[in-house]
Amino acid sequence: MFESGLLKGKKFLVTGGGTGLGKAMVRRFSELGAGIVFCGRRLEVLEATAREVSGETGGSVAVRQIDIRDAEGVEAMVESIWAEGPLDGLVNNAAGKFISKTEELSHRAVDAVLNIVLHGTSHVTLACGKRWLAQERPGTVLSIITTYAWTGSAYVVPSAMAKAGVLAMTRSLAVEWGGRGIRLNAIAPGPFPTPGAWDRLMPKSGELAEDGMGAASVPLGAWANTSNWPTWRAS
Ligand code: HXC
Repeated sequence: MFESGLLKGKKFLVTGGGTGLGKAMVRRFSELGAGIVFCGRRLEVLEATAREVSGETGGSVAVRQIDIRDAEGVEAMVESIWAEGPLDGLVNNAAGKFISKTEELSHRAVDAVLNIVLHGTSHVTLACGKRWLAQERPGTVLSIITTYAWTGSAYVVPSAMAKAGVLAMTRSLAVEWGGRGIRLNAIAPGPFPTPGAWDRLMPKSGELAEDGMGAASVPLGAWANTSNWPTWRAS
């Protein structure tokens, strides 16, 4: 679909790039010629993915170990990336969620998700955006959200709150920064059958939970209507 070399000379940062959807984007961008930096919390996972992708594509693939909740750490990471040359694009892919009855969540559990998805995404976006604006360079931000950013969803309330916030950030900055050459987009891929997402969406080894969060407990069975979902299951 894309010409090889389409992204040659471009440099992208992908958050949460060590696994799942982030890893797939890292691989594809690298295949198309982009230089890649990707970050995540687990160094061994990052390094394994970097070896795998650079072995396949021969491209420039670098990693940074970071928890994007750490605003100062994010600033230092982005500064260190810029020291080797500015980014052209950022993909906000890193996320955290768990499926739970909301009344059973502690405030720390709510904060864990909001701090990663909402605050973490804003830390990285602002760190890049401020540099693009100061240097009068164009930049592109793509944020991965979810379809429930619009609709809300039972049992993933902190995630829905955070993703709705990322959607609002995207729309707001698209207006505030658009005239200065920075594009912001968000995509909601829907249920995406990576191990990370599927283990959380389908607790208990890929089956709907039997402990009250499965089909029977969802009004109208809406959440649990998986008949038109992809058939692949994480092992
Ligand atoms: C309820 C939970 C919980 C769970 C943790 N907590 N897991 N509460 N149900 N399953 C509570 C803990 O008890 C604790 O509260 C608080 O949350 C913080 O727990 P920690 O373990 O210290 O959290 P932390 O290390 O910060 O990690 C949280 C996390 C983790 C980042 C969310 O689950 C994680 O590492 N997940 C991997 C990343 C991930 O989720 N990826 C999937 C993204 S898929 P107390 O009060 O006990 O201290 C996605 C999109 C899917 O987002 C879209 C589908 C359509």
